[in-house]
Amino acid sequence: MLINAPLDKKDWELNPDNYAKDEDGEFILKKDGTPRKKSGRAKGSKGRGYNYHSETKAKQAAKRTVKEKQKKLKAAQKKVDNYKESIKKTNKALEEDGVFSPEELEALPKSLREEANESVIFKANEGPQEDFLAASETDVLFGGAAGGGKSYAMIVDPLRYAHRSAHRALILRRSMPELREIIDKSRELYPKAFHGAKYKEVEKMWTFPSGAKVEFGFLERDADVYRYQGQAYSWIGFDEITHLPTEFAWNYLASRLRTTDPEIVPYMRCTANPGGAGAHWVKKRYIDVSPPHEPFMGADGLTRKFIPASLQDNPYLAKDGRYEQMLKALPPTQRKQLLDGDWDVAEGAAFTEFSRLDHVITPFEIPLHWERIKGIDYGYASESACVWGAVDPSDGTLIIYRELYQKNLLGTELGELITNMELDDPFSVQGVLDTACWSRTGTTGPTVGETLQKQGHKLRRADKNRIQGKIQIHEYLKITQSGRPRIQIFNTCPNLIRELQGIPLDKSNPEDVDTRASDHAYDALRYLIMSRPRNANPLDRMRDIKLEQSYRPVDSNFGY
Ligand SMILES: Nc1ncnc2c1ncn2[C@@H]1O[C@H](COP(=O)(O)OP(=O)(O)O)[C@@H](O)[C@H]1O
Ligand SMILES: [Mg+2]
Repeated sequence: MLINAPLDKKDWELNPDNYAKDEDGEFILKKDGTPRKKSGRAKGSKGRGYNYHSETKAKQAAKRTVKEKQKKLKAAQKKVDNYKESIKKTNKALEEDGVFSPEELEALPKSLREEANESVIFKANEGPQEDFLAASETDVLFGGAAGGGKSYAMIVDPLRYAHRSAHRALILRRSMPELREIIDKSRELYPKAFHGAKYKEVEKMWTFPSGAKVEFGFLERDADVYRYQGQAYSWIGFDEITHLPTEFAWNYLASRLRTTDPEIVPYMRCTANPGGAGAHWVKKRYIDVSPPHEPFMGADGLTRKFIPASLQDNPYLAKDGRYEQMLKALPPTQRKQLLDGDWDVAEGAAFTEFSRLDHVITPFEIPLHWERIKGIDYGYASESACVWGAVDPSDGTLIIYRELYQKNLLGTELGELITNMELDDPFSVQGVLDTACWSRTGTTGPTVGETLQKQGHKLRRADKNRIQGKIQIHEYLKITQSGRPRIQIFNTCPNLIRELQGIPLDKSNPEDVDTRASDHAYDALRYLIMSRPRNANPLDRMRDIKLEQSYRPVDSNFGY
């Protein structure tokens, strides 16, 4: 071999195994430890060694470059492999449900991720829509402002399980024309989300490649639910559920909710705008029970939650402001329901101007020198109500700071309760009491009015003019130029607040409220306000006080 070896090769190049390397990777030691001269140009050599060494160096440098390139190639190969793997995963995710989960999106390489984001078929609006689509409670209401993205979420939600063959979803609305709108939306969305999803108009049913089905139906009358007799659904959604006047259909269909697939969690879902024929039962079932977003257990044993919707949460409609403009032009009740998503306002409400935002305040300590008054409406079988007010001397605003609302109280019991509740007041508060309480007809003992007076309550007969009283309450609810209404109510008075929100107009006499509704706190407030109808202006109030003082009756027992 040595014979064939090129002449300029040194032994350590030809037989590298006999040599060890120094830290520069050069062969400088023989394995037996005998050093080779480092310089390569041995003392006394004729210069050839020098040339020879630099040549070697060049070769070695080349070798190193090759090695580095190989290393880089290997890394690149690894990257390609990872990339291939992630594409495989992506395809699998797409096959499963056609949509990227946030984790799946995150796992994608950057360039793919950007591409996926661009071609994403559906992306939930941040906030309530996202919360609704992620909710794990069995029964969820997504309710509030129009345009909040509720119906859209309703057609997306059943796709949760579109990759499971046993999945059966049913989307319901009150009427066929209304149903048409959401069917049209599904026709835009579903085929993009699932290639191969097929819609059959006759059955109003989508079939997905997995075999999963999403069906549309309407419930014009309660009896329409029997169309679903004997069926089982793993997902049932009611769009605009308040259009259903009773909970009959919901209850019936809840009994159809089940699945044979252990991987599927069955869900009931509904959306609604506030108001409508069924607002009452919907509010009672989903809204009055627990604060928004807080899950609770219903009496039927189902986990339940209410998610409020607002227009601002849907950038698709909120951005250009036109839709909002349109909602702003609606009459007050509808405006509050559809723009503010306010569930508190009732259809045909007498005090549409009443608003939590303007008229309800957080309690504060009433200064000792503020004038205090109270109004009492007595009832035994129905509630007795008493509301206490204080007048802010700076602008005459009436602050309702306390309420009593309780059934089955005898006159003496009511008096004692009031006395106890007034312990925090600097002195016993003057008030007005329903005139019926002063009437002797049919009673032998002292009247309620007399009983209360005996207990030390300073009371006058209330002015019971219903129509004037109602006008005065409207006057007080008006927002003055200062931006403050003339009445504000502590949020610790839920009964008065509820009555002012909900009390309906009398259908045959719109000048008055409907007396069949619960109106005891309202009446108490009306008496209170009527006892000082001109007192909005502090100067008027001064005059009133002077008048009252000059007319103070001799018989303090019976008031005046
Ligand atoms: N996540 C979303 N992605 C794309 N468009 C949306 C989304 N959410 C809502 N929209 C659009 O906003 C519009 C109003 O939403 P919709 O669901 O009809 O509101 P609502 O039922 O609350 O009145 C719809 O036409 C829909 O196209
Ligand atoms: Mg809708």
